[in-house]
Formats: sequence, structure tokens, C-alpha cells
Amino acid sequence: MTEGATETEVFAGRTVVVTGAGGGVGQILVRGFGGQGARVVAVDRDTAALDRLKADTDVVCVPADVSKAEDVRRVVGEAGEVDILVNNAGVIDRLGMAHEVAVEEWHRLLDINLTGPFLFCNTVLPGMLERGRGVIVNVASVAGVRGGRAGAAYTVSKHGLVGLTKNIAATLGDRGIRSNAVCPGSIQTGMQDVTDAFPSALEALSRDRRKPAPALPEEIASVVMFLASDAAARINGVALPVDSGSLAF
Ligand SMILES: NC(=O)c1ccc[n+]([C@@H]2O[C@H](COP(=O)([O-])OP(=O)(O)OC[C@H]3O[C@@H](n4cnc5c(N)ncnc54)[C@H](O)[C@@H]3O)[C@@H](O)[C@H]2O)c1
Repeated sequence: MTEGATETEVFAGRTVVVTGAGGGVGQILVRGFGGQGARVVAVDRDTAALDRLKADTDVVCVPADVSKAEDVRRVVGEAGEVDILVNNAGVIDRLGMAHEVAVEEWHRLLDINLTGPFLFCNTVLPGMLERGRGVIVNVASVAGVRGGRAGAAYTVSKHGLVGLTKNIAATLGDRGIRSNAVCPGSIQTGMQDVTDAFPSALEALSRDRRKPAPALPEEIASVVMFLASDAAARINGVALPVDSGSLAF
């Protein structure tokens, strides 16, 4: 907390980059970090959603595709010194098994859900290392730690993201970098509307009677913000389930 900031402004003086800022969880993160004093750089490829954010917040909105290296460099150039990076942008697959998923869908999922976060980490880490501090929070999924919670492509992309999270914590933790992941179960956002899912996947979902009710986006954002805050100073390299206990079943 910087001098002169109030107790609720725990992110005062910090620049936070939030990707997927126009989505269900992203919008809450933007308002949450902004409300606690941060300078927020909101990134999304959905320009209409960014315009809506711009209308009632004072965030810096940067339209960009997280899977494109030139877009990521442009975002970080506009952001300046990034203290906190939240890799939240993501897409769901058609819940297809390995023999069903088309190679184009495989690449699309990995490009957005895994290469995107890698590109952002790759671009912000040199500055963070120079300053000797930096925080990364990756929004993964329970599909990043379990095999049967989504399609093959989404599952692999989120397992990869958990791996990236842990590798950064393990290799750069002693140089002031914290890197953690949250692993939500289902959340009440647009991502729940998978209209073109494979019938076998829908049938399997309908049999899963122990599935907890979807979380509110606020209930995920609050955990992301905790991990981003100094209150989590000693937490590094974890993949924290936020799933109403579904992994315990
Ligand atoms: N909704 C769920 O049930 C659920 C469950 C577990 C994990 N998650 C994860 O939570 C995160 C947030 O998802 P959400 O539920 O808010 O979904 P959402 O669809 O509401 O928001 C995702 C946002 O990411 C943006 N985005 C997608 N591809 C992009 C790209 N290439 N470049 C820039 N922006 C891009 C979209 O435009 C959208 O605004 C995602 O990483 C998702 O995988 C969601």
C-alpha cells in the first residue's frame, strides 16, 4: 500500500493488466481492482465490451487478441510498468473427446488459453525482474487439474496453464515473482452457454448429479484479488480450486 492510500485501497500505486476484461469475471476484476486504488489496463478482443467498461470506469482499455505476440507487445507498451498481471481471457471448447476434436479447434484453444498467457508472462517478466517484484495470477479451471471436466482441448490448455504457473513460481520465486492460478468450477457467465457441444458430452454432464451450482463471477474475482494482494505474499506456485468442493467428490 502506498503512502496516503486508504485501507481499502490495497492496490494503490499498482498497475494491473486484466485480460478478458469484457467478460463475466473480467468486468468484476476491472471494477474490483479499480475500486481498490489500482490503475487498471483492461484488455479484450471484444471492443464493444471494452466500450461499455470505458463508459463507467476510468480504466485504460486496450483492444487486443491475447494470442498474437504483436498485440501483447502493444498492450504492455501502453501499460508501462506492470505490477500485477491477471491472465483471465479464455474460451471453452465443444467439450469433445480427443478423437472428436478438430485440429483447428485444438490450435484455437491452445493459442488463446495457453499461448496467450505465456506471451503476456514472457513480455512482462523482464520488467518485473528488473524491479525485483511482480505478481501473476492465471485463471485456469478445475479442468486444469482433473481430466473429465471439459473437452480434451480445454483440459490440455488449462493443465498447461497450471504448469506455466508453477514453472514461473519455481524458477523466479527467489527473484521476487509470485505466480499462482485459480481453478474455478463452473461460473455463471456467458462461457456456460456451450450451444454446439458434442451430444455425448451433454449426456455425461446430465448424469453428473453432484455438480455444485455455478459460482457468481464475484466469488471467483475475490480469490484472484486475494492472490494478487500482499495478503498472499507467501503463496507461490499454487493452483487453488474455487469449486465449491467438487474436487473433493
Ligand atoms: N465460466 C466458467 O464456467 C469457467 C469455469 C472455469 C474457468 N473459467 C475461466 O475463467 C476465465 C474467464 O471466463 P468467463 O467465465 O468470464 O468467460 P467469458 O466468456 O464471460 O469471458 C471471457 C473473455 O475473454 C475474451 N477473450 C476470448 N478470447 C480472447 C482473445 N483471443 N483475446 C482477447 N480476449 C479474448 C472474451 O472476449 C471475453 O470477454 C476464462 O479463462 C475461463 O476459461 C470459466
